[in-house]
Amino acid sequence: MSSNQVQIFDTTLRDGEQVPGCKLDTKQKLEIAEKLDHLGVDIIEAGFPISSPGDFKSVETVANLVKNATVCGLTRAVKKDIEVAALALRNAVKPRIHTGIGTSDSHIKHKFKSNQEEIIERAVAAVTHAKNFVDDVEFYAEDAGRTDNEFLARVCTEVIKAGATVLNIPDTTGYCLPEEYGTKMKYLKDHVKDIDKAILSCHCHNDLGLATANSISGVINGARQIECTINGIGERAGNTSLEEVVMILRQHPYLNLNTNIKTQQLTQMSQLVSDRMGMVVQPNKAIVGSNAFAHSSGIHQDGVIKNRETYEIIDPSEVGINQSSIILTARSGRAALAYRAKNIGYELTKIQLDAVYNNFLSFADKKKEINDDDIHQIIKLSKLSPSIYA
Ligand code: KIV
Ligand code: ZN
Repeated sequence: MSSNQVQIFDTTLRDGEQVPGCKLDTKQKLEIAEKLDHLGVDIIEAGFPISSPGDFKSVETVANLVKNATVCGLTRAVKKDIEVAALALRNAVKPRIHTGIGTSDSHIKHKFKSNQEEIIERAVAAVTHAKNFVDDVEFYAEDAGRTDNEFLARVCTEVIKAGATVLNIPDTTGYCLPEEYGTKMKYLKDHVKDIDKAILSCHCHNDLGLATANSISGVINGARQIECTINGIGERAGNTSLEEVVMILRQHPYLNLNTNIKTQQLTQMSQLVSDRMGMVVQPNKAIVGSNAFAHSSGIHQDGVIKNRETYEIIDPSEVGINQSSIILTARSGRAALAYRAKNIGYELTKIQLDAVYNNFLSFADKKKEINDDDIHQIIKLSKLSPSIYA
C-alpha cells in the first residue's frame, strides 16, 4: 500500500446499524455489502457475530459473498467472541477480526472495575487469540479519545508485539477537538514501538459535530485508515460520514492522500442505505443531501448559471448527480427563470421575460417553490406570442 493511500473502513453494517429502529435483515445487509464492495471500500465491517444469531448469519453471508474488500467482524476482548467471529469469517477471501477493550480511566474503573496492567493483559490475550485464526487483527482501544496518551501508547506497543496489524483509536464519545485528535495520532506515531508494523485508524463519533474534522486531522497526522458510515449514520449523533471524508481528500489534492472510492456512486449508495434503513437524509447534508447542489437565491443562481464554480466546489457529476439544480422561489431572479423556462422549451426575449417575471413573482409569493407545470401556467397567463417557443 502506498504511504499516501487512506484505507476506507465502512462500518455502516455494524456501528451504523446500531441506530435505534434501523435494523437490517441479512438480505438487506448483503445487498448493501455488495454495493459497498463495488463502491471500492477497502474493509467492510459486517457485524458483531456473537451479538445474535442474525448478526452471525449476516457476517457469514457477507464473508461468503464479498470478493474484493476485507470482511471484518467485531468482538470484545473475550475468547468466545473471537472464536465465534472466526467461525463467521471462515470463508472470507480476506478476513479481519476486530477486537478490543476500553482504555480510558472511566472505562477501566467503571466498566471493568480493573486497572491499567490488567487491561493490557486482556488486550494482548485477545490479539494473541485472534491471531490463531486470522493474520489480519485490528485492535480497538475503546474511548481512546479520553485515554491518557502515554498509557495508550503502551497499550498500542504491546498489541503490536502480539501481532495487531491495525490500531483503531476511537473517539467513542465524540469528545475530542480536531487538533487534540490529530496530536494524539502524532503522539502514537512518535512513541509506539514498531508503529510501522501497523496502520493507525481513525474512528470518530459525531456528538459535537466534529467526526469528519477529527478524522481528517487524524490522517493529516499519520493515520492511514478512516472508519466511517454512509450518510454518517450510527449511535447517538452518528459516525464519520464516508462521503464527506472521501470528498474532502479528493477536493484537497495538496494533502496528497487518496482513497479507492468510486465517487460517482456516492449518491446512489446514500439513497440505498437511506431507503433500506428507513432513515431520511437531511436535505442540507454535505455531499448527498437533496439541497447539496441546489441554488435558490437570485445572486447565487445568476452566478451558477454564468459559471458553476462561482458557488460550487464540487462538480455534481463527480458524486453521481446529473447537474446542479436551480430552484425557483420568490428570491429567484430573472436569470434563473429564463434558465428554467429554456430547459422546458421557452426562449424568452428580454421584454417577454419582464412580463413573465412579474407574474412569476405573484405566483412565487403564494407558493414555496415553482415547478415546471407552474412555469407553463405562468407563461400561458402572460399571454405571450407563440414565437417564444424555442
Ligand atoms: O466507538 C467505538 O469505540 C466503537 C468500537 C467498538 C470500535 O465502535
Ligand atoms: Zn463506534
